[in-house]
Amino acid sequence: MSHNILVGKRGIIFGALDDQSIAWKTAESVKKEGGKFVLTNAPVAMRMGAINELAKKTGSIIIPADATEVEDLEKLIDKSMDQLGGKLDFVLHSIGMSVNVRKGRHYTDLNYDWMKKGWDVSSVSFHKLMQVLYKKDAMNAWGSIVALSYVAAQRTFPNYNDMADNKAYLESIARSFGYFFGKDKHVRVNTISQSPTPTTAGKGVKGLDAFLNYAEQTAPLGNATAEDCANYTVMMFSDYTKRVTLQNLYNDGGFSNVGVSQEIIEALDNS
Ligand SMILES: NC(=O)c1ccc[n+]([C@@H]2O[C@H](COP(=O)([O-])OP(=O)(O)OC[C@H]3O[C@@H](n4cnc5c(N)ncnc54)[C@H](O)[C@@H]3O)[C@@H](O)[C@H]2O)c1
Repeated sequence: MSHNILVGKRGIIFGALDDQSIAWKTAESVKKEGGKFVLTNAPVAMRMGAINELAKKTGSIIIPADATEVEDLEKLIDKSMDQLGGKLDFVLHSIGMSVNVRKGRHYTDLNYDWMKKGWDVSSVSFHKLMQVLYKKDAMNAWGSIVALSYVAAQRTFPNYNDMADNKAYLESIARSFGYFFGKDKHVRVNTISQSPTPTTAGKGVKGLDAFLNYAEQTAPLGNATAEDCANYTVMMFSDYTKRVTLQNLYNDGGFSNVGVSQEIIEALDNS
């Protein structure tokens, strides 16, 4: 399936770690639709080396940047415009990490230094990225910026830990910065709230397998895959969504609006 809806568009894709990453699938889909892009990830993630394979496959260059370092972001954006031959039309922020989740710290016993680190990586990096793009006037009018979120920003999921708070903050930054980006530059800013997905970040959450099943049985259309998320993001980068902005858009098979499904009621019914 390819409709060339991104031909002539340039951008940056953050967060492709391996071939399970949502950013990896997005890079493949954007390429299929004719978009050109720079791939970036934290220097430490480069050591795994998988991103080189994606760069080769999509004809992209890689520019490492720690998304919490403004100086790295400045260099990344300057070099990307240089390499791609002009201002940007799309940016994907596909970055998340909680030290408390990684180290198995319970939400009622958080380490606050770790909490700050996770908040900086998962939420504030989105503000830093947009502030650099804004100050450098690096986005073309009607460009599109997307970050990935999760429904734990609105509803309680006990094992999602401090990432729930990070996602709520991320979605708020999208609305707040999106206002100024819209008014001043005609650029749209949205978050896509994705189903649970078996990636490196997803697998860090305790009990992911059971949770994937629960979500699958709750959502009338079943869980959205990483490929589904990639396709939705492509649409958000295209000219077909020019006036969609400041939104948190659910790509979750309907999960977020279901109270309980009949399958789950029947599984719990002892009568
Ligand atoms: N997997 C899920 O269940 C799920 C569900 C909803 C939303 N999301 C979100 O999707 C996004 C992508 O995650 P994924 O599931 O593809 O997992 P992933 O582990 O493949 O991707 C996370 C990426 O963040 C990068 N990263 C971490 N620290 C960074 C830093 N300082 N600078 C730059 N990059 C950094 C990692 O290197 C990695 O590439 C995240 O925002 C995640 O929270 C995931």
